[in-house]
Amino acid sequence: MSPYVVVALLMVGVSTSTGMDTCKIDCTHNLPFTADPVDCRNYYICYGFFEHSEFPFTCDSGMFFDLNSHTCLSSGYKCTPDCEKCSFDCAAPVLGKRASTVDCGVYFDCEHNDWISCSPDDPYFDGHVCQKDEYHCCTCKSSCSDYDVANHVMVPDYRNCTNFYLCLEPGIPDESTHGHCPSGNYDSQRKTCTDDAPCIQPCA
Ligand SMILES: *[C@@H]1O[C@H](CO)[C@@H](O)[C@H](O)[C@H]1NC(C)=O
Repeated sequence: MSPYVVVALLMVGVSTSTGMDTCKIDCTHNLPFTADPVDCRNYYICYGFFEHSEFPFTCDSGMFFDLNSHTCLSSGYKCTPDCEKCSFDCAAPVLGKRASTVDCGVYFDCEHNDWISCSPDDPYFDGHVCQKDEYHCCTCKSSCSDYDVANHVMVPDYRNCTNFYLCLEPGIPDESTHGHCPSGNYDSQRKTCTDDAPCIQPCA
């Protein structure tokens, strides 16, 4: 193992966040409105500590939902941090949905226990909605299994063959575990960087 990779491994050791928690709709502050974790233009209405409107409402045009005042503002607002929208697991769905690991054109509705196909107009599921940009497909996101975590496996970055993610937690690895090969490319066979690995980046 090269010294560069060792340094990278030590640095990612300090990471704790999974990115997933921030995708929840949070009414526990006891205020009437709360942020839509995937769209700063929207908000949800809270009925109680753990109850909120089924769908989000949209702020007036040009306004955004402010995290501090919990109202729509046209300037000086602070949006919710980006949450990792793709989940491959109904145990941790994002707003009730999970993606397929192999097919970007479908998603699973965890509440109704059913696969839904995207329409031809918006063919690609981004973890939250079907939309037009293939780049945002959840199938382009790397994913770590429990085995990967237990064995500190490096998984491919489907967008850049010179990079990898180190698995510290199950699910989609976050940016803090995004590593760069000191030389060569990520080698999907040996699950590490090698100088003779071909460049494979299906989502570039
Ligand atoms: C791949 O990632 C590396 C490091 O982050 C970057 O320097 C390089 O430009 C990227 N390559 C492409 C094709 O985007």
